Amino acid sequence: MNPFEVTERGVTEAKPAHAALRAAGPLARIDGPGGGFAWVVTEDALAREVLADPRFAKDPALAPDTWDRTRAGLEPAAAEQTSMTTADGPTHAGLRKAHAPLFSARGMGEHYDRLTAVARELLTEVAGGKVDLAADFATRFPVTAICELLGVRDYGERASAACRAMFTAEAPAAFGTFMELAGVALTERGANLATALRDRLPADTSENDLRYFVFLIVFAGQITMDSSLGFLMAHLLHERPDLPDRRAMDAYVQQNLRIHPPAPYTLWRFTTAEVELAGQTLAAHSPVLVDLAGITLDPDRPAGPDLVFGAGPHFCVGAQLAQLLLRAAADVLTNDFPDAELAVPFEQLRQRDFGGTQGSHLTTLPVQLRPDGV
Ligand code: HEM
Repeated sequence: MNPFEVTERGVTEAKPAHAALRAAGPLARIDGPGGGFAWVVTEDALAREVLADPRFAKDPALAPDTWDRTRAGLEPAAAEQTSMTTADGPTHAGLRKAHAPLFSARGMGEHYDRLTAVARELLTEVAGGKVDLAADFATRFPVTAICELLGVRDYGERASAACRAMFTAEAPAAFGTFMELAGVALTERGANLATALRDRLPADTSENDLRYFVFLIVFAGQITMDSSLGFLMAHLLHERPDLPDRRAMDAYVQQNLRIHPPAPYTLWRFTTAEVELAGQTLAAHSPVLVDLAGITLDPDRPAGPDLVFGAGPHFCVGAQLAQLLLRAAADVLTNDFPDAELAVPFEQLRQRDFGGTQGSHLTTLPVQLRPDGV
């Protein structure tokens, strides 16, 4: 069983690896992508325990010495580059505190009209004839909307291309684009989300760190949203649900995220010391993942909150923004394009994994936004 194998399958088919991992017990042992072996938590209560336990730390410096960091998709060690995704303990708590109000339901809710305007503009732009909403909208909207909040809307297309290039040999140049974008947002465009974040961080935060934090917002937002938007739009056009109000729409969006969890696994964690877990002894520096998708899709999952956005101190900081972006896209699609229809039967849609610990996305989403041509 290789959970990281890239597979292509029908739109409603879950990746077989999740059922296989579940069958292997609450703590499955797998071959690690960076060499050696690794552990995957497949059970809800155990996952919440691990995600709240500081002995499972994020710092890639704790990865086994034998790991090839690039192959394992690791960020730089926390000492090399401060980042919310790799910091632990008080450093992490400080970063979360700076981001929290800006990314709260209230903080983000203020921007809803701007997000809707971006969705409307991008959909209207491609509305004539048959369009591939996966390539022409899902990959462009989240990054363009986040650029709008950062005051660098004009970087939308370049940032969108840079997100795709981050998984290729062009990654260093793509990273350069993000650093440039962040620099412009921080210095040239007046008040925006980047400057608001800077104002909430300690005054001695370096320019490089500030730019990296902006990069993280754009990149973390794009790689997950890209996937969830395609599935949401496909289901909306196929099912044509009656969603009379915001509450109904939000519930539909969340249900869609549970059917197609955009982040199938957490990022890597590493044990800081020897740990006893689910009857196994994990040596220090053991790599551990949580199978968020497998747990969310488990037919025997206990009632209660899902794990789509993770849990514990690293719970997705962008969860409110993600839900707003999804609602904005759904609102515009259903209200501005009420006659839009899938150009192929829903059952023929295919999904493909991005690779590594990332989720999957629709290979194409052919749609007629205005079937009558008006
Ligand atoms: C449907 C869309 C999204 C999903 C399913 C998702 C999922 C997740 C998950 C599961 C984690 C925790 C990873 C772990 O514990 O290792 C996470 C963390 C994070 N997400 Fe999201 N995310 C989404 C959208 C976004 C957006 C739009 C942003 C933009 C701000 C964002 C920014 C982040 C950041 C910065 C972290 C790191 C938080 C930390 O380590 O404290 N995410 N996300």
